[in-house]
Amino acid sequence: MKVTVFGVGYVGLVQAVALADCGHDVCCVDVDAAKIAGLQQGIIPIFEPGLQELVLKNCEVARLRFSTDAALGVDHATIQFIAVGTPPGEDGSADLQYVLGVAGTIASLMSDEKIIVNKSTVPVGTADKVRAHVQDLLTRRGQELPFQVLSNPEFLKEGSALEDCMRPERIIIGTESPQAETLMRELYEPFNRNRDKIMVMDVRSAEFTKYAANCLLATKISFMNEMSHLAERMEVDIEEVRRGIGSDSRIGYQFIYPGCGYGGSCFPKDVRALERSGREVGYHAQILQAVEQVNFQQKQKLYQHITCHYGDDIAGKTFALWGLSFKPNTDDMREASSRVLMERLWQAGARVRAYDPEAMDEALRLYGMRADLEIVASKDEAVVGADALVIVTEWKDFRVPDFSMLQEKLRDRVIFDGRNLYEPSRVEDAGLAYYGIGRGRSC
Ligand code: UGA
Repeated sequence: MKVTVFGVGYVGLVQAVALADCGHDVCCVDVDAAKIAGLQQGIIPIFEPGLQELVLKNCEVARLRFSTDAALGVDHATIQFIAVGTPPGEDGSADLQYVLGVAGTIASLMSDEKIIVNKSTVPVGTADKVRAHVQDLLTRRGQELPFQVLSNPEFLKEGSALEDCMRPERIIIGTESPQAETLMRELYEPFNRNRDKIMVMDVRSAEFTKYAANCLLATKISFMNEMSHLAERMEVDIEEVRRGIGSDSRIGYQFIYPGCGYGGSCFPKDVRALERSGREVGYHAQILQAVEQVNFQQKQKLYQHITCHYGDDIAGKTFALWGLSFKPNTDDMREASSRVLMERLWQAGARVRAYDPEAMDEALRLYGMRADLEIVASKDEAVVGADALVIVTEWKDFRVPDFSMLQEKLRDRVIFDGRNLYEPSRVEDAGLAYYGIGRGRSC
């Protein structure tokens, strides 16, 4: 089948590649000429395992093409995906200008029937707005062309995006049109072979499902982070508790890892946006507000442990940081806990020596060259000349360190672990002080 995808950000690009790889003919359109020129030469704007190989492979067999030419994209297919960004506005609500912009482009260029499918995370009611906008532009053009607007939210995770896209647990399709449903079922048939994962529902429920999923996951994390505060004060080991409750299949082991706060481009934005949407319909979503507040507080947690250990005067100290990205297997630092920590350390006059397997260029792009930030090429180099070590992201490479080397190199012999990677007794036996999250030592 032929498909057009507007927007080659994370969601659009991964979706396009997954569709092309299972045999569809995909045309990607983006207004960013530099990004499109790069993709045409196999240069991928994001770090995502396996993505580059699949882009190259599918471009070679001409199942995947990239263009800035919207007319080409609109002509290419009946199915038109919108996968552009919905950044948060000043008040936390999702800014729909890019989504409506693409819808307007489709409306002004289309000459036959279109199925417009929203992939971006958009507030409930967006499909109605898109429909009204397209209808309005068609009327102004004096054209009466048939079209549908669907919601088909994406549930991929950065770092395992291709896998998530190609082996989805569910495919949500929001539409009231049987014809559009048939087309979408045909499109997703290659991903839907072992069991029927397609759930068809009304458009507004589909839009809401995406927010509800992200907000529940964020709630699990903030709940565990709250438990970790109680655990510290009650001399309880949160890791034992995590194992204990995770074994209950109603709770499950996933997304109950306490840590130094959730980040990324989705959870923080989506929790705020749904809370904001609640206000618009006259409801104060108290749980969502608390989830956001706990997360804000959790991002201060590593700094609190540092000042608990050292007192307020940390000027002149050097902290080795392992991990800058908001989670492993990505170079993405949006809303990353590392940023909150580094900015607090700099304010207090401390220095940072940071290592991350993928996000070092991103850190330089964000902060530039500054005297109190050194980006180094390995985790071992980060601890040279450092007073203490802080673990911010749980990259695999950090899981089994040489504790005797750390004991020798770290001047103050202390580790602040924001991801509970180590057993406190193992670290303490090596002669280092250890602060985990909810693991005994508290202030
Ligand atoms: C999230 C969702 O997991 C996806 O299902 C969704 O499609 C995506 O948002 C989106 O809306 O596009 P992502 O932002 O890539 O995916 O990252 P996650 O793997 O969900 O992690 C988010 C944050 O939660 C990270 O900072 C991670 O460190 C933190 N986290 C996760 C915890 O602190 N504890 C946990 O137990 C799990």
